[in-house]
Amino acid sequence: MIDVQKNTTGQTIFYLTTKTVSLVLLVTESGIVLTPYWGGRITSQDISYVTGEITRASYLADADGQKDFKLEQLPQIYPAYGYTDLRGPAFAFLYADGSRTTDLRYASHRTYSGKEKLDGLPALRPSQDCQTLELRLADPVQSMEAVLRFSVFESHDAITESVRVANQHKTQSVRMEKLCSANIDLMDCGFDLLHLSGAWGRECHIRRRPLEQGTQSVSSARGASGHGHNPFAALVTPDTDEVHGEVYALHLVYSGNFTVSAEVDMHQNTRFQIGINPFDFSWLLEPGQSFQSPEAVLVYSGEGLGRMSQIFHHMYQDLLIPERFAKQERPVLLNSWEAHYFDFDGTALTALAAEAADIGAELFVLDDGWFGKRSDTTSSVGDWTPNEEKLGGSLQELTAAIEETGLAFGLWFEPEMVSPDSYLYRRHPEWVIQAAGRRIEKSRDEYVLGLSNPAVCEHIITSVGNILSQNNIRYVKWDMNRNLTNLGSTYLPAERQQEQAHRYILGLYRVLETLTHQFPDVLFEGCAGGGGRFDPGILYYMPQMWPSDDTDAVERLAIQYGVSLLYPPSVMERHISAAPNHQVARREPLETRAAVAMWGNLGLELNLVRMDKAEKAALAEEIAFYKKVRPLVQFGDLYRLKGLDGGNQYAWMFQSQDQKTVLVSFVQIQASPNTVSKRLRLRHLDPDAWYRIEGSGAVRSGREMMHIGLDTGKIRTDAYSRRWLLTRMDRASC
Ligand code: GLA
Repeated sequence: MIDVQKNTTGQTIFYLTTKTVSLVLLVTESGIVLTPYWGGRITSQDISYVTGEITRASYLADADGQKDFKLEQLPQIYPAYGYTDLRGPAFAFLYADGSRTTDLRYASHRTYSGKEKLDGLPALRPSQDCQTLELRLADPVQSMEAVLRFSVFESHDAITESVRVANQHKTQSVRMEKLCSANIDLMDCGFDLLHLSGAWGRECHIRRRPLEQGTQSVSSARGASGHGHNPFAALVTPDTDEVHGEVYALHLVYSGNFTVSAEVDMHQNTRFQIGINPFDFSWLLEPGQSFQSPEAVLVYSGEGLGRMSQIFHHMYQDLLIPERFAKQERPVLLNSWEAHYFDFDGTALTALAAEAADIGAELFVLDDGWFGKRSDTTSSVGDWTPNEEKLGGSLQELTAAIEETGLAFGLWFEPEMVSPDSYLYRRHPEWVIQAAGRRIEKSRDEYVLGLSNPAVCEHIITSVGNILSQNNIRYVKWDMNRNLTNLGSTYLPAERQQEQAHRYILGLYRVLETLTHQFPDVLFEGCAGGGGRFDPGILYYMPQMWPSDDTDAVERLAIQYGVSLLYPPSVMERHISAAPNHQVARREPLETRAAVAMWGNLGLELNLVRMDKAEKAALAEEIAFYKKVRPLVQFGDLYRLKGLDGGNQYAWMFQSQDQKTVLVSFVQIQASPNTVSKRLRLRHLDPDAWYRIEGSGAVRSGREMMHIGLDTGKIRTDAYSRRWLLTRMDRASC
């Protein structure tokens, strides 16, 4: 809901209110837009006293010629560079005359139902009850305008914000050097900064540290959102855990270089910003041109991280991933990578598919190695022509053979890269990202195609599109196995070279928009050497992601816990892989590998041909169980019970939307001697309902299971797991 009021002193106040949250904006007499409040829901009362009562610190500069009107003390919605606030600005422009001061003041506003699309960028779709406030701010001296767009998702309990700036000067261009998607000034600093960090193979680990005076940030300058950090951070009160504490979270719907920063000033206020990383970024706005920032998602929770996750999950499940797949059950797939790597032929693939079909898989994915002359990483990326010699026939024939086993067929691509040893590179060396006069460095034997060049994008659309239209491909794994280095474009003029990283992402979005429209039934899965580009921007096009190349169940616990802070279970793909595991050589029992892989979309990454009958039978049972609980796991509500401390135990539960079924999983990583069994307490059950526990047949009340808990058993082995399937009983059978 958006409520606009005028108070007795003539100030305009905007109340942006969702189910449990309020964000309040206030326009001062001189047109500065303040944010007196963001937090738990309040009523639309005049709260101008909040900013009125701020005592004035000495030493800071006055504004508007008024003594003691100190901008640096005031919480602003979009603070400028060059005037009297010396904290980090939300944006920075360099004007033709060399001046750098911008002073944006309120010019007008409009509110409307729904939400407009963002030009060339992914964004949340409007919900039924979505309303938007557009605030137009202007600097008449420099003819600049910024439109801040806030969309309020009442029942989803979140707000999104994006910014569009326009150079309205008739003759002069402007260089934009920074443009945040959101800036929130909080009048406190008693927070921890919580974020998701890691590296290849150990993505999305939760990290947390108390704020200090100064700026602390997480960012990427890798050309992708990156393995290092997710484009997210939350400021949380020190008591925050899964169920307690206040959480202020920002997440960016963007797949490229980003920064999230928290600046604690001299007076214990915190400026919290998110947007495109200003490092090595600038954008030339010619007269009349405008620029659209990516969208930020603003979530507040007064009930800890669990509530924050619920909000993000429902937002992304309902309003971000392609509608077509939002409620579509995802297939159990077998991916050929860890079974064969590059070493296969058509016969081996068909044999593997037949085994997979036997144990209940539904889709066969042929990973890397099917095209050009590729038999290792050193060649052929970019030459998307099936290697018929290796496949023992055409791709159509292979697809038909796989389909004959009863499985659908999927294919791996890495369209944004090119091998130096490829026809494509020999034909178009100028398409590669390269710094003039310098050697182009390889990573995983690849160069990066410059997607800032529309011709490159067209080529990708055509070459991938040809394979998809000529073959019955039901699924695409879209990989991206290196970062952008030696930045330089043969296509862009000198004065636009710093636009390259953002233009790359805009090019990628155009390619994905076109292909996903052309092939609406193909299930796209995003991958970037695992979770190197796992972000809401990609999810807008591709409804699922490969979170990490580390398939080890124990390793995956921390990764999946971190991913689940923000992303709903149906977007995470997990595979049961071999024991010993290929990344860390750990040996874990099948039931634990399966329990962890069932934290979302289950898949397999195994050479079934080499497994014995008993192992395959056990695997078939796991898959059969998974199919029974699949709607619950993919579309139920996820609650994390243990693991926030990154310790020895993890537990999580799924509850169906109708609250009739619950799946609880528990894993202990290491056993220790001489311990007794403990109990696992559940959450969010109906205290007065009765539940039957599958297997034992025991009947327990929700209240008992939340207060007393379930017996986790005596733990004598490492990588120990338990799971319980609970069915709520109707009154008559109680
Ligand atoms: C990346 C992916 C893997 C696999 C390989 C193939 O590393 O993350 O899953 O597809 O590429 O080269």
